[in-house]
Amino acid sequence: MPRAVKFSRYGGPEVLEIAQVPRPVPGPGEVLVRVAVAPVNPGEAGIRQGVFADMWPAAFPEGQGNDFAGWVADLGTGVADFSVGDEVIGYLPRAAQADYVVSPARLLTLKPSDISFETAAPLSAVGVTAWAAVNAVGVGATDTVVVSAAAGGVGSLAAQLARLRGATVIGTAGPDNADFLRSLDVIPVQHGPGLTDRLRAAAPGGIDAFIDTFGQGNVDAAIALGVAPHRINTIADGRAVARYGVRHEAQEDAFSPQVVAELASLVAKGLLVVPISRIYPLEQVQDAYRHVQQRHTRGKIVLSLVAEEERAALAQQLRAEAPAGAPDIL
Ligand SMILES: NC(=O)c1ccc[n+]([C@@H]2O[C@H](COP(=O)([O-])OP(=O)(O)OC[C@H]3O[C@@H](n4cnc5c(N)ncnc54)[C@H](OP(=O)(O)O)[C@@H]3O)[C@@H](O)[C@H]2O)c1
Repeated sequence: MPRAVKFSRYGGPEVLEIAQVPRPVPGPGEVLVRVAVAPVNPGEAGIRQGVFADMWPAAFPEGQGNDFAGWVADLGTGVADFSVGDEVIGYLPRAAQADYVVSPARLLTLKPSDISFETAAPLSAVGVTAWAAVNAVGVGATDTVVVSAAAGGVGSLAAQLARLRGATVIGTAGPDNADFLRSLDVIPVQHGPGLTDRLRAAAPGGIDAFIDTFGQGNVDAAIALGVAPHRINTIADGRAVARYGVRHEAQEDAFSPQVVAELASLVAKGLLVVPISRIYPLEQVQDAYRHVQQRHTRGKIVLSLVAEEERAALAQQLRAEAPAGAPDIL
């Protein structure tokens, strides 16, 4: 039977289990996707731990994962834009870590064939979030921009998108990631105590915009450095939003298949890199979350649901089993 990551009580990674679930059936306007890769994100750990239970309670047994990439496996009625076997990128909150997901067709993006599933899957989550943050602060070619946690999932993409706009980008990271940031043409500055002084020294001409992807005092540092609140965006510090009126644009503010397609196109052209620090098989989902919760990921950690060597045969099998003829148009 198809597998899906589920949890039936709030807690640490140990509450995650691989459940056997029925294969879902797509309804009108929906697409069944066989998932190849589903990333893990630190925010999902907060939901599973019950941190947000008042705002967004779980419906046990709750699913897990948001972003995914895979193949179209079946079409509901009225879907004309996709065919069985197409490679797609999608976003389904609390559901993506499963062999099969059903998505509205209008939320899917065709994956360029020349980028990997590992690279493609995070684009609908951290990619779109980075896109939102860079737009929120209006990064331009003459700007000096700071990105906090610039080696992380959102940060590494936000830093590159800001560079693509021509900005000078300073990224905060630990010493182990300094060379990695230099490889992205980003100026590394170590995070931690004394950050404000180090940023001031790294940007003698001043800092125009600040993209915070980590919280924990980064917005305070930006304000202390004289960055205007409307040119600061945080995705990790609600207190700073209330206190300073800084911006807080995130995935939900920018998501559309068009934005995902634009990000995928940048990857396909070699202009944007999605660093993948580790691939775990689905069975090791608990270990994958233990790893991501350490908060020292370079780029992304992802779950593989179909082993690399099995992917070509699976795609061929899906196409061979597809019903012949045009899709049923509503
Ligand atoms: N609302 C949304 O749409 C949305 C979407 C995605 C993410 N988020 C949120 O955005 C945040 C970032 O997510 P993410 O996936 O990018 O995180 P992540 O990949 O787990 O971030 C890891 C990075 O954080 C750095 N880091 C560790 N300690 C730090 C510190 N004290 N100061 C600055 N950086 C430090 C690490 O660098 P070193 O290893 O070099 O220390 C590492 O590269 C999370 O809070 C997440 O929940 C929100």
